[in-house]
Amino acid sequence: MSLAQKIIDFFKKRDKASIGGGQTAIDKQYASGKMTARDRIKAILDANSFHEYDLFVKHTGKDFGLDKKELPGDGVITGTGTVYGQPICIFAQDFTVAGGSLGLMHARKITKIMDHAIKMGIPLIGINDSGGARIQEGVNSLAGYGEIFYRNTLASGVIPQISVILGPCAGGAVYSPALTDFVFVVDKISKMFITGPEVIKTVLGEEISMEDLGGARVQTEISGNAHFFANSELECFEQIKRLITFIPWNNRRKAKAFPPKSPKASLDIEHIIPSEPSTPYDVRDIIRAVADGSDFFEIQERWAANIVIGFCRIDGETVGIVANQPLVLAGVLDVDSSDKAARFIRYCDAFSIPIITFVDLPGYLPGVDQEHAGVIRHGAKILYSYSEATVPKITMILRKAYGGGYIAMCSRHLGADFVFAWPSAEIAVMGPEGAANIIFKQEISESANPDETRKQKVQEYTEKFANPYVAAAHGHVDAVISPKETRDFLIHAIKVSETKKDIRPFKKHGIAPF
Ligand code: HXC
Repeated sequence: MSLAQKIIDFFKKRDKASIGGGQTAIDKQYASGKMTARDRIKAILDANSFHEYDLFVKHTGKDFGLDKKELPGDGVITGTGTVYGQPICIFAQDFTVAGGSLGLMHARKITKIMDHAIKMGIPLIGINDSGGARIQEGVNSLAGYGEIFYRNTLASGVIPQISVILGPCAGGAVYSPALTDFVFVVDKISKMFITGPEVIKTVLGEEISMEDLGGARVQTEISGNAHFFANSELECFEQIKRLITFIPWNNRRKAKAFPPKSPKASLDIEHIIPSEPSTPYDVRDIIRAVADGSDFFEIQERWAANIVIGFCRIDGETVGIVANQPLVLAGVLDVDSSDKAARFIRYCDAFSIPIITFVDLPGYLPGVDQEHAGVIRHGAKILYSYSEATVPKITMILRKAYGGGYIAMCSRHLGADFVFAWPSAEIAVMGPEGAANIIFKQEISESANPDETRKQKVQEYTEKFANPYVAAAHGHVDAVISPKETRDFLIHAIKVSETKKDIRPFKKHGIAPF
């Protein structure tokens, strides 16, 4: 055969393999409201940047008629490309080929691209759309999952790992996304669960739809397993691309800096906090008032909303934001908000992203439910993560910083590099009402007019302790600043922290309170 004929033959082979499970399966995929694996890769990556590998890999299954099936690409597409010019490794399970089920060679294609991402130090995007372990390949499928989980763990904290759930992700398969950094889901398309509705019906006699069991809303609003919710696949891809602009390629690089931009002039930082201390406000307005272009990229917006986490840029540099949200449960710390913040703090620390903490909380949420749900164990995670983090840590106390909440929210005592407080800050063991009722109990009860005495004592306590000056007098706060000076202090603190070194005692690793 001449070279020209060989080339023609090659294109034919490639075209055949590239159409996955064939036109009927592709039509079925579209009819179910989903894009194909190839469409998805194309939509995420820069135009013409995708380079595919292992298209001609063959499956090795021999049983239950598998030996007679071709399974092009073995049901997964792998390769490299770029997003806004940044190199990326990517895999997308192809549901049109045996339901994207995972057999031995399918898994090997994934682990190969994962190894590549780790070696090259570039992010990995994994698109999940699969019926799970390929039943006909038995234990080899299970082995494949184990090898993926192992690499997810090796890659953790080395390269960013992004999971996208665009179809079923069932059984043990869910644990690969669960081990990655960010999980994206799409309404009506994503379905993630350990045991499906049929098993639940057989074992427990309960009827539930896949959507109500592990759909996109469930995973972003109830379980907190997923971080980003989108209404369509295209919206989801835009979110992924936006995330990539904020994070570094790997743990030895800094996130890309952008030209600095002023926040929107319409956001008046001085008038966001209401004068009445118990009136709520949206802390995101404060974040936007200091962020470049007022652009804040929130993570896990729909879950544990009493704490806000996400990325923005300050003077062109990516920073991670952790902020109590007075709009929800007065911004208290509880089981879920502690988990949410602690994981994010560890992400920022692993990838050299400075952390800015905005504080306004009355403390930990009291109650039997919280105690029984392990608020002690979960609450400890936030203390551990802040104390462990060696990236620059800047804390801005806006209003309430009471008791354990004050300590937990990156206080000086947990290693904050800079602690600033607004004149509205109230840094104390507890709020004035509670404090006055305890320490002046006798005086109040013995007084001729207990209500009036209580009022006076609350006032006395407020004047003496519910302010930033007691903490500032002891050096627990570095500077009391006016709201308008916030951005300037943040920019300066980030600049002078650039060469921060924080040497810790040798250890293999700590025992984080998981
Ligand atoms: C082999 C599979 C498969 C699987 C689907 N297919 N799942 N083949 N192994 N696990 C095949 C189907 O036979 C079918 O092939 C094609 O994919 C499309 O599947 P349909 O059922 O027609 O699609 P749909 O109606 O959309 O339903 C999708 C589904 C369903 C909900 C995912 O297929 C399903 O329930 N599959 C089984 C899920 C499961 O129990 N997986 C094992 C989980 S245990 P044809 O040839 O007809 O087109 C697990 C353990 C991992 O994963 C442990 C790791 C630690």
